[in-house]
Amino acid sequence: LRDKYIQAIGSAADEAALEELRVQAVGKKGEISLKMRELGKMTPEERQTAGPALNALKDEINSALAAKKTALADAALDERLQAEWLDVTLPGRDRRVGSIHPVSQVWEECTAIFADMGFAVAEGPQVEDDWYNFDALNIPGHHPARAEMDTFYMHRAAGDDRPPHVLRTHTSPVQIRAMQAQGAPIRVIAPGRVYRADYDQTHTPMFHQVEGLAIDRDISMANLKWVLEEFFSAYFGTKVKTRFRASHFPFTEPSAEVDIQCSWEGGTVKVGEGDDWLEVLGSGMVHPKVLEAAGVDPSQWQGFAFGMGIDRIAMLKYGIPDLRAFFDSDLRWLRHYGFSA
Ligand code: PHE
Repeated sequence: LRDKYIQAIGSAADEAALEELRVQAVGKKGEISLKMRELGKMTPEERQTAGPALNALKDEINSALAAKKTALADAALDERLQAEWLDVTLPGRDRRVGSIHPVSQVWEECTAIFADMGFAVAEGPQVEDDWYNFDALNIPGHHPARAEMDTFYMHRAAGDDRPPHVLRTHTSPVQIRAMQAQGAPIRVIAPGRVYRADYDQTHTPMFHQVEGLAIDRDISMANLKWVLEEFFSAYFGTKVKTRFRASHFPFTEPSAEVDIQCSWEGGTVKVGEGDDWLEVLGSGMVHPKVLEAAGVDPSQWQGFAFGMGIDRIAMLKYGIPDLRAFFDSDLRWLRHYGFSA
């Protein structure tokens, strides 16, 4: 009996098997317990040898059970330690951190600089009603500016009676939307994506502009010049002179193209020094017809507007010669210019 149990306990595979053995041997109806009950029917002599022997056997089996239980628990723990082993000295895996795209950085920087001068941000849709993109800006249907802008037209199915839409060719339609929404006085900028069917080193079919609009009782071109010089000096981190050249836009009168002072040295541009000039934006006094179209009374209000290429001034700041690279999502290029880890 002893050998049977000691052996079985020694080779029990798990706690459940062990418990089964305990019940079989020393449980209430276990083999040894039954034998102990038979002691009563024995003669006193028999009892004197059988009693202690059974007690000893019971003790031995109990301690064998306890020992085996501990051994099983130890083995289980060892197994877990082995499975969950972790080398805390292993060097961490290289994790590359993303970064903000240079165009987004410049966009945010423009917003911050103009915010300091009291300009709020206005927005408009990229798929724009052609009335906002053209007519309201004093560019009627036959106007050559429509063709010059290389406009992307949205397809309209036969029977679609919604007004014709285009991918906005500039951020100027936001002037109209902002004045309709807020009236005058108003001081806003409108950074955003614009679209023209054009592609070469300095043109991509999608690019970015930031529109500026300031309307009040007596705003003049002098205010425009101050705002722009203040902006460029803050943006380039050095005093930058501007040059206003007479120009023409249907939505401003008078109109001016604005150049910033720079120098060309060995193919690299330095802004804020030298005798060269670089065109960076179009601007002017908002045309009375534009104010009218937006519901603002031109006999009471006047002001300036400008439209600047965000990508253009990003290229200047970072010395990037090809605009197209901005939109290639080439990590090697982004890293080369320090725009990504
Ligand atoms: N919308 C013009 C362009 O895209 C720029 C501009 C804006 C000119 C506002 C004058 C006033 O070229």
